[in-house]
Amino acid sequence: MAYNDMQPFTHISVLQEEVCHYLNLKPGSICVDGTLGGCGHARSIIKYIFPNGRFIGIDQDIDAIKNAEVVLSKSLGNLIDNRINIVHGNFSELPKFLDLLGLTGVDAILLDLGLSFHQLMESQRGFSFQKDEFLDMRMDNRNTTTAADIINQYSESALADIFFKYGEERMSKRIAHKIVEKRTVSPITTTIDLVNIVKQVMPVKLLKTQKIHPATRIFQALRIEVNGELEHLKNFIANVPNMLNKGGRLCVISFHSLEDRVVKHSIRSWENGCTCHKNLPECLCGFVPKFKAVVRKPIIPSQKEINLNPLSRSAKLRVAEKL
Ligand SMILES: C[S@@+](CC[C@H](N)C(=O)[O-])C[C@H]1O[C@@H](n2cnc3c(N)ncnc32)[C@H](O)[C@@H]1O
Repeated sequence: MAYNDMQPFTHISVLQEEVCHYLNLKPGSICVDGTLGGCGHARSIIKYIFPNGRFIGIDQDIDAIKNAEVVLSKSLGNLIDNRINIVHGNFSELPKFLDLLGLTGVDAILLDLGLSFHQLMESQRGFSFQKDEFLDMRMDNRNTTTAADIINQYSESALADIFFKYGEERMSKRIAHKIVEKRTVSPITTTIDLVNIVKQVMPVKLLKTQKIHPATRIFQALRIEVNGELEHLKNFIANVPNMLNKGGRLCVISFHSLEDRVVKHSIRSWENGCTCHKNLPECLCGFVPKFKAVVRKPIIPSQKEINLNPLSRSAKLRVAEKL
């Protein structure tokens, strides 16, 4: 089902209060939400920074953009004016968007990575192993490669690599082998085809004892590959120091360890990228810290939030401030 503007998204935002607190929003702030989704965070942010703030909301999914146009204009009394810019694009292109909008820096940037509830449960794009749908998995429908293309065209070793690298799947080689065996008979095009292959490969004992659905890691890996998720995150992060104003905050919510690692290591390198030998009494390489981590450990949802929204259970929020 494509987006229908009579039914706004029903996404429940994760760590809503924490995000607004840690973004350090004030009336007049310029804030970017790089992952609009269902606009839950966006609506809260706008309340903090208006009337004289500026909000730039980005999403690569056209459904999210159409939803944002309706939802944000409703919450603003049908008035999206030049204080709000809704951009259909990838957050990795944020420097270009800011340039086009004539902005040299912003005070706060939020990324809430992963999928919206709409994408997972309503979009019919094959994101969920609980549904029988075409294996599409594109968040941005302007891209041409679907998950089905990858499953049917990549070599066995390339598939195994993706499953291992992006899904941390121990059965990666056996699953890739089975896929190649099956696709020589007929193409694999649906989520159920793929789930059945994974189940055939998994040892019965593992199927019985595993806490997560057996196809969880394979679906995660495919989604990351289809959407180039880690590359876009890395490209985005590399530009953050040039986009934030002094005192500006970056908040990133990630849902798996590969994303969290990128964010954690970047913040660490901005904070302490000194390359001197640790035995030297003082720094000689001239490294100047650009950021400080606002919280040492990532913020995670409370048990109460997880009970209300089980999809939030793996969320981790990291926060950095430009010095
Ligand atoms: C978890 S949802 C965001 C939910 C939102 N924070 C809310 O409160 O409703 C993630 C959204 O980010 C978008 N997204 C993911 N990666 C993106 C990227 N690289 N560029 C732009 N949008 C992206 C997805 O299309 C999806 O709509």
